[in-house]
Amino acid sequence: MTPFTHIVVLGGAGKMGRGIVLLLLQRVAQGDHFRVTIVDTDPSQFDGVKEYFRYHLQKIDSKRVAVCLQALCFLTRVEECGPADLVFEAIIENVEIKADVLAKVDKATGGRAIFFTNTSSIPIHVLEEKARLKGRILGFHFYNPPPVQQLVEMITPKGAPKDLKTLGLEMGEKLKKRIVPSTDIAGFIGNGHFMREIVFAWHLVERLSHQMSLSEALVVVNTVYQEWLLRPMGIFQLVDYVGIDVCTEILKIMRTFLEEDALHCPYLERLIGKGVRGGQHPDGSQKSGIFEYQEGLPKGVYDVEKGLYMPYKAHSLGNGVTEGLTWRSLLKDPEREVKIAAYFKRLSSEDLFGAQLAMEMLSASHAIGKKLVEEGVAHSLEDVNTVLRLGFYHLYGVGFK
Ligand SMILES: NC(=O)c1ccc[n+]([C@@H]2O[C@H](COP(=O)([O-])OP(=O)(O)OC[C@H]3O[C@@H](n4cnc5c(N)ncnc54)[C@H](O)[C@@H]3O)[C@@H](O)[C@H]2O)c1
Repeated sequence: MTPFTHIVVLGGAGKMGRGIVLLLLQRVAQGDHFRVTIVDTDPSQFDGVKEYFRYHLQKIDSKRVAVCLQALCFLTRVEECGPADLVFEAIIENVEIKADVLAKVDKATGGRAIFFTNTSSIPIHVLEEKARLKGRILGFHFYNPPPVQQLVEMITPKGAPKDLKTLGLEMGEKLKKRIVPSTDIAGFIGNGHFMREIVFAWHLVERLSHQMSLSEALVVVNTVYQEWLLRPMGIFQLVDYVGIDVCTEILKIMRTFLEEDALHCPYLERLIGKGVRGGQHPDGSQKSGIFEYQEGLPKGVYDVEKGLYMPYKAHSLGNGVTEGLTWRSLLKDPEREVKIAAYFKRLSSEDLFGAQLAMEMLSASHAIGKKLVEEGVAHSLEDVNTVLRLGFYHLYGVGFK
């Protein structure tokens, strides 16, 4: 890889951008020589971001912190960037805004830079065309937070030069990431699975709400995803974690580009209409969304009719089937594959309400994974599983079928 001299990070003060900058500064700490310019329209975040870098770099090599910070420059206007050879883009997930800013930064950096966009869902060829970056843009989709998460989904648009793909792979190696290729189709693998699962989970809630209240149905579906499918959190807690507004925007983008009307969850839009958005506080703790949280655990469910949180009441799902197995207990268990396979075998022969729901969810997850492979988004089910394992911390990918 030709050494870079100046790297620009668009949206470098945001959640993803600051993580990408930290990864780059870690390379500077290791002896790489390049300058990094953060361009972000919100300067109120700059002091906090500097503290974030200082804190994390100190842990790696306290003697190199000053050198790393000297390599860094902050701007609020893309027009002031000056010549650069590489640009990471991590601004808001909006086609028109991204394309406009990419075109502006291309002009400001001399028209020869390579672009790595962190978009979660927008087809890369669309940004390529709109920003006139033919052959110079690659999807490089980090997971949150980029310094910790091993996975990067790499999306090479059709017709991209071979060198560009090679550069992406080399960058992945340099940043010690596991690269999984995804085809340039809206949502890619990660959101291709996650968004369809949200829609499926919502249909389950609607169905269950004929036999229980909507709040109860939300709790049941969330609980079964977490406890019975042995996941780190339930699906609606994950929606809150990512942000209801973010999920809604991604669904909209996928619906537009895939012309798949079913990719719709009107309930999330109703929540946004009520000002309920989820997401995280600056310290990483969870904001209220579909659920209200205390010390990271759901304690209330938002009632859209009443406009307030009602107590999160656990519903009886049938006891004893998980036999104490949890995502956490299995995480570092060397025998987890065997234990999980035996557990699902047991579950499939149970006629408990919770077990039946869990099997239905498992089948749906598997069907989504298969669809991603059949439609060519993922090269293999193994790639889907890698994305779910590394990007979403699932223990077993799309399941045992
Ligand atoms: N948050 C996640 O979990 C996650 C995971 C993977 C990918 N992504 C993608 O990464 C991108 C950024 O997401 P985020 O969660 O970091 O958002 P964020 O809101 O935390 O950060 C975006 C940053 O961009 C800045 N910004 C907005 N408009 C700008 C402009 N015109 N010029 C320069 N800076 C501008 C904002 O001030 C903000 O600091 C999105 O495309 C998102 O889909 C997010």
